[in-house]
Amino acid sequence: MKLYLDTANVEEIRQAADWGVISGVTTNPSLAAKEDDDFTKILPSICELVNGPVSAEVIALDHEGMIKEARKLAGIHKHVVVKIPITPDGMQAVKTLSSEGIKVNVTLIFSANQALLAARAGAAYVSPFLGRLDDIGHTGVALVRDIVDIIDLHELNTEVIAASIRHTEHVPAVALAGAHIATMPFKVLKQMFKHPLTDLGIESFINDWKKADKSFK
Ligand code: G3P
Repeated sequence: MKLYLDTANVEEIRQAADWGVISGVTTNPSLAAKEDDDFTKILPSICELVNGPVSAEVIALDHEGMIKEARKLAGIHKHVVVKIPITPDGMQAVKTLSSEGIKVNVTLIFSANQALLAARAGAAYVSPFLGRLDDIGHTGVALVRDIVDIIDLHELNTEVIAASIRHTEHVPAVALAGAHIATMPFKVLKQMFKHPLTDLGIESFINDWKKADKSFK
């Protein structure tokens, strides 16, 4: 399972890219709205930092508007993947865009049926939002598992991006469920490094080395 960062913040992306652990980035209009600069200015910088797909979402809700915005976004950088919500107009846009070779990530997926529709329309990626499902008392990880099983069983050419990840426990859970990608906030990515025994282990290794008064020769 690949790890993506779910943010439009260039500094967070730069840091995670320097660590060498991320394979892509996802954004959405809410994340882009948090940044000071205009998104069309930020997007090329994000694409240069990441050696992989960068999802950028359309705002239009009608298929003609979506297609127009999608072509514009895709023209900004070769890493851009266009994000389109799961609606009938959205799928009409996916059909056209995928036939032009523009990759689409179908977003706001909350059911296996929605994922199946998106895959059939030609989506390169589907993004089930597990955290938002957990918020309303459902089990987001179970949906991710169902979608992965359906895609495998029917040999569909679509990758599953587990999105709306809220905490570190979600990450191994979606990896075991077979998600191809997990996209997460920077805070969760940083927490993945953490274990108290790692901190204690580093401290005792350094102390033992110092006590023995050794040095690298
Ligand atoms: O980018 C889509 C998704 O990851 C949003 O997450 O936390 O707003 O539900 P969240």
